[in-house]
Amino acid sequence: MVGRSNVGKSSLINALVKQKIARTSAAPGKTRLANYYLIESLSPHLKSLYLVDLPGYGYARGGVESVEAFEQLTQAYFDPSTREQRRVAGVLQLVDSRHPDLPQDAAGYAWLLAAQTQLAIVATKIDKLNRSEQVRTLRALKENYDSPVLPVSALEGTGLDEIWKLLRQWATEISGS
Ligand code: GTP
Ligand code: MG
Repeated sequence: MVGRSNVGKSSLINALVKQKIARTSAAPGKTRLANYYLIESLSPHLKSLYLVDLPGYGYARGGVESVEAFEQLTQAYFDPSTREQRRVAGVLQLVDSRHPDLPQDAAGYAWLLAAQTQLAIVATKIDKLNRSEQVRTLRALKENYDSPVLPVSALEGTGLDEIWKLLRQWATEISGS
């Protein structure tokens, strides 16, 4: 799970596993470390599969420094020297449905594309938009991002099946490679 601070990474993990395991907060910057959650239901495919809740980028209201912090973190995470024992099946980049055009998200996406991992965009907090706003934002995201775009609401529990389907697919692909 990668995305701006407060975008809903920890909430999405909780919604996916239907448990309150990841700490969430209305104030940005809650998650400060990479937290690993072992997903037993998908683990038969692999020795072990984890959902990883990473700290958000863009905490300091965007700006260059937050992109640099994100780069340091993701660089460490995808570092080839440790990547072998920590194989990345894929990355969900979370983008706030209300803000599909943020430069920090575009910069993060460009970085992740270069890391050559499976990548999908998750449009979070879709419950905050009405129907026509949802259509507009999904269109903008599909234009901005050359990856699958999956709308979710952790609050209402919508779109979660599609995410599980993708995670299962990624798990199968990485276990076969
Ligand atoms: P950091 O750990 O600070 O990077 O944030 P995060 O990306 O983990 O965000 P978190 O899950 O803590 O959620 C931030 C705020 O958004 C909280 O107040 C959540 O309740 C709210 N939120 C998360 N998902 C949803 C959603 O689907 N709908 C609505 N309406 N609010 C949400
Ligand atoms: Mg968090």
